[in-house]
Amino acid sequence: MVRIHVGQPTVYPKNLPPHADIPRAKLMTIKTLLSPLELPMLARNDLRGTACVVFDILRATSTFTTALHQGAEKIFPVSEISEAVAFRQGQPEVLLAGERDGFRIRAAQSGGINFDFGNSPREFTPEKVSGRTIVSTTTNGTRALQACAAAKLVLAASFLNLQAAADYLRTQKPAEILLVCAGTGNDVADEDVLAAGALAELLTAHRDVRPVLTNATQSALENWQAAKPDLFSALGRAKNGQRLLTLPDLRDDVAFCAQRDIFNLVAALSPDGSLRRV
Ligand code: MLT
Repeated sequence: MVRIHVGQPTVYPKNLPPHADIPRAKLMTIKTLLSPLELPMLARNDLRGTACVVFDILRATSTFTTALHQGAEKIFPVSEISEAVAFRQGQPEVLLAGERDGFRIRAAQSGGINFDFGNSPREFTPEKVSGRTIVSTTTNGTRALQACAAAKLVLAASFLNLQAAADYLRTQKPAEILLVCAGTGNDVADEDVLAAGALAELLTAHRDVRPVLTNATQSALENWQAAKPDLFSALGRAKNGQRLLTLPDLRDDVAFCAQRDIFNLVAALSPDGSLRRV
């Protein structure tokens, strides 16, 4: 269960003496949206100077990262099953993916189409996805991505490509980064908060920018630092992790999504609304 830090925003590097030779580095505010209940608020914010990084570790953003690594050309995240079906009607060659209650969407839910994939990253093999366009609808992850669409930059990130995402953000040097935890249903998802903390850790490790961490981001960082020695167990304790571990076909997704930096790729939203490698 996530613990919350209270106090002033934390500026890194921390605890510099008053007259220290502070590097003339650019300030970079790192905010975190912890709960999916906060997503509607994004529509009222000006995100034109913000880089959003969306995490749905179990499993949407881990799955999208994997699908792109395996050769998918692009992935359109959509909120509703009906949007995915309409996409297929316009472009019959697209592959349909996604879940409801964790399971692949079936004809009875879509009005007649069995989706090609569920939301398990292990389904997205090169043979099935190379060069293909995928349309995906998931309970939280695709909605979180859509909620960020007006931002200057939107990345879908996971533990599988976290270092690549951090390196890319350092080259872009946005004045503000918003770490968006997609959640599980209406709840905060611990695994998303841990990933936000892990990315904050990577971003505070360099002196070329001076990160300013809001309390939510500092909380995510502290939670991550406590969980980091055993990420698999931490994911297994999370609500969605516990559930996936009880499902024989999906339990291995937890260990898969707990892997660090196995893919060196960055997934970003393009102007047409698709996620692609950048
Ligand atoms: C989601 O988008 O809510 C998920 O990734 C859920 C899941 O795959 O179990």
